[in-house]
Amino acid sequence: MVNATIIYYSATGTVHALAQAAAEGAEKAGAQVRLRKVAETAQPEAINARPEWVQHLQDTADVAEAHLDDLAWADVVLFGTPTRFGNPASQLRAFMETMNVLWFQGKLADKVYSAFTASNTAHGGQESTLLALGNTFYHWGGIIVPPGYTDPIQFQSGNPYGASHVAGDGPPGDVSLQAARYQAQRAVETAAALRKGK
Ligand SMILES: Cc1cc2nc3c(=O)[nH]c(=O)nc-3n(C[C@H](O)[C@H](O)[C@H](O)COP(=O)(O)O)c2cc1C
Repeated sequence: MVNATIIYYSATGTVHALAQAAAEGAEKAGAQVRLRKVAETAQPEAINARPEWVQHLQDTADVAEAHLDDLAWADVVLFGTPTRFGNPASQLRAFMETMNVLWFQGKLADKVYSAFTASNTAHGGQESTLLALGNTFYHWGGIIVPPGYTDPIQFQSGNPYGASHVAGDGPPGDVSLQAARYQAQRAVETAAALRKGK
């Protein structure tokens, strides 16, 4: 069985919804799945200024936080982050930058990696965010598996770099969620094929 870990950051729930859909897709493809959030590092003043941020923190209090073992364990890792000025959120970056122990031991290499995101506007930096995460996957010796246009849903969602949603249009609907499910399914199937080939 392929092990898949979905690691995400979400302030107001959009990326969390995509992460849940990715977890569903990975499970449907036969993987054992861990859904993990990264630690919130924002100042309480910033969080408390936005009721939806406070609400989301409360709603996801029971989601386990990501640890080194969640990466070491996985054959497939999907990362989800909101776009922050065209880049991944610092909360997710902070977590990724604790990975040097695993990296040094070669334990991040040869895994399948893929990423998904959300932004407020259609041209607000989804692609640059996903490409920025890709830089790190290269350093880790990862096998990057993007969705491309390999399924009809991709022609509706329109982002070959990874599932993405425009949060300014409202919460993720069927197309964005199905794109996240498909992306995870493709990543798991690729990892399974690699394992079989080895
Ligand atoms: C500091 C900051 C920077 C942001 N930068 C961008 C951006 O560059 N482009 C954009 O479209 N949205 C930007 N946003 C909006 C977020 O991407 C959006 O709220 C997020 O995708 C919602 O995801 P979430 O509900 O999972 O937190 C920014 C938000 C914050 C707080």
